[in-house]
Amino acid sequence: MAVGIFDSGLGGLTVLDAVEQRLPDLPILYLGDNAHTPYGVRDADEIFRLTDTHVRRLWKDGCNLVILACNTASAAALRRMQEAGVPEGKRVLGVFVPLIEALTERQWGDNSPPREVAVKHAALFATPATVRSRAFQRELAFRAIGVDVEAQACGGVVDAIEEGDMILAEALVRSHVDALRRKMPNPEAAVLGCTHYPLMEAVFQDALGADVKVYSQPKLVADSLSDYLARRPEMVGDGSGTRFLTTGDPKVVSDRATLFLRRKIAFEAA
Ligand code: DGL
Repeated sequence: MAVGIFDSGLGGLTVLDAVEQRLPDLPILYLGDNAHTPYGVRDADEIFRLTDTHVRRLWKDGCNLVILACNTASAAALRRMQEAGVPEGKRVLGVFVPLIEALTERQWGDNSPPREVAVKHAALFATPATVRSRAFQRELAFRAIGVDVEAQACGGVVDAIEEGDMILAEALVRSHVDALRRKMPNPEAAVLGCTHYPLMEAVFQDALGADVKVYSQPKLVADSLSDYLARRPEMVGDGSGTRFLTTGDPKVVSDRATLFLRRKIAFEAA
């Protein structure tokens, strides 16, 4: 029917936007769990339960492939869902791997043993739940050795963005970058490990300084999805256009999403 894109709220729209630019004809069904956002302050079992419910709903609606465009859901639920077994013909993929492949300069599907890479000091900015899960460090360790990762849990940033309070979001980003710098003064790379943060990418870059390479997910995920679908065309589905579903109030969510992407977005009740 379509490729499903799931997020706890509006953050996954940054991924959707990049996917639409890369694959303009791809049918997409977006689902935001705005009624329960933010996920980043919930415990792993609750994030798993919510994510599992919504991914199953997208499968049931006809999506063969669902992208978890949410690092927090990917960190807490992806491995658990894959290990529990997914229905025949269905797939769920997360957003960490494309990011880590870019950081470690690996090609998709390169399963060779972990090796030394150019980056030695990397800062990870993510939600408290993602930081607590250590999923990023675990996935990185499969691919690279000798990378020191300092993680900064960015409390409050997702709420400020969801509320449309970009002044507060900017102040919080700057204070989280300061906190990171106290632990790791000179990172070479910074990973924006939350799909809400690309909206604040310019602030992260400004606060970190021009010599820090900032890795942001939307384009990396879109490129990786394009590669995947070229190999697995049966995952595309036969629908057309993009539909937006929310567990929250469709009017409120549509207004925020329109501000968020600076184009008209109309959500329907999930
Ligand atoms: N945008 C999501 C992520 O990538 C999660 C935000 C949240 O719900 O806390 O982590």
